[in-house]
Amino acid sequence: MTDTPTLAEVVDLGRGQIDVDAVLRQLVDRADTAAPTSIGFPGAVDLDHTEVMARLGRRLWNNIGDPATDPGGAAHTKALERAVIAWVAETLAMPADDRWGYVTTGGTEGNLAALHAAHRRHPRAVAYHSTAAHYSIPKILDILGVRRIPVHAHPDGELDYDHLAAQIRRRPTRAAIVVATAGTTMTEAVDDTDRIHAILAPHAPGGHLHVDAALSGVPLALDGRLRLDHTSGIDSIAISGHKFFGTPTPCGVVLIRAGIRTPGGHVTYTDTVDTTITGSRCGLAAALLWHAIATHGREGHRWRVSEARHLAGYAVDQLTAAGWPAWRHPHAFTVVLDTPPEQVRKKWLLATDGPMSHVICMPGVTKGQIDALVADIRAAAHPTPAASLPRPRLPVTPQAVR
Ligand SMILES: Cc1ncc(COP(=O)(O)O)c(C=O)c1O
Repeated sequence: MTDTPTLAEVVDLGRGQIDVDAVLRQLVDRADTAAPTSIGFPGAVDLDHTEVMARLGRRLWNNIGDPATDPGGAAHTKALERAVIAWVAETLAMPADDRWGYVTTGGTEGNLAALHAAHRRHPRAVAYHSTAAHYSIPKILDILGVRRIPVHAHPDGELDYDHLAAQIRRRPTRAAIVVATAGTTMTEAVDDTDRIHAILAPHAPGGHLHVDAALSGVPLALDGRLRLDHTSGIDSIAISGHKFFGTPTPCGVVLIRAGIRTPGGHVTYTDTVDTTITGSRCGLAAALLWHAIATHGREGHRWRVSEARHLAGYAVDQLTAAGWPAWRHPHAFTVVLDTPPEQVRKKWLLATDGPMSHVICMPGVTKGQIDALVADIRAAAHPTPAASLPRPRLPVTPQAVR
């Protein structure tokens, strides 16, 4: 009996005869097999993107340059990109006369574009971000050469506002760039931008409030809880597209107040304006986002949010009933649990940070998956009533969001 060759063996481009079909089949089979137990990372799986992929996936759609300037030819989706930006901005209550943005490669590029604009605005500013901020934030600040100060986060992931205020007060002559998070990576905590704005507003050298809302930006905007109206004090926001909309290519949206956007020069040979981080940009991503929005609308997406939160509440209930410590923030898709034994963690692709792991009940995750996870946890270990997990400071009742 001969063993099936591994993927590493069949992809080797140095081999004489390459079985391209076998490579593609193995890739898809492996991903299909793993999908039902991959619930530790945030990608919605309920939306059907096949029509866009089938109809647009055969050519290059290049949205090069600023979304407002169309390049020559017709192989771009800038009209759809502008519609996506307008929809997201309106959902966030961002004033029509004071907004600019584009479809990015993901949350990280959105953070880079926004923090680049903030740095141009305040070249001597010091940046403050919580210790629960995504790893892209310190990396981007280092790339930009901005001095950065980590601010304490509470055990549930939310920023410590007193520590932030004290840190800003220590540098009274330096403008402050503050990065808030709406949906921290491990616990989906949401920093209170009203409180941060109240700290920043009296700071004489000025500042910039950026929100990294990679996961929770659209869900919280649909709730009306995250607003970028004139009173919010929020200057920019970055959102991932492949998380809540589950697009089959990584993407995102960045929005910045029009007055502080990076101006960018006219590029003669493309006849576009160079305001974006990358030059060539994925027009397919903009079309996928547009299609996901057009086919469901705000109400459809609100329903998706509500179903996912219900399931997250159910997951907390089931884990707790099984004697396994678990909790969630009331708005969250993320369920934080004591780290289960390794075989469970690996099988379910749980994101783990020491004693804390999480599953994310993104739209499309089912009760059946949660039941199977809980059964595996029950079987793998005798439940411990360990108090090792950080708990929210206020008791979280999952029912509160039902
Ligand atoms: C809070 C936060 N910000 C930024 C990112 C990065 O987003 P992307 O992977 O789309 O670049 C993530 C990804 O998990 C995240 O959780």
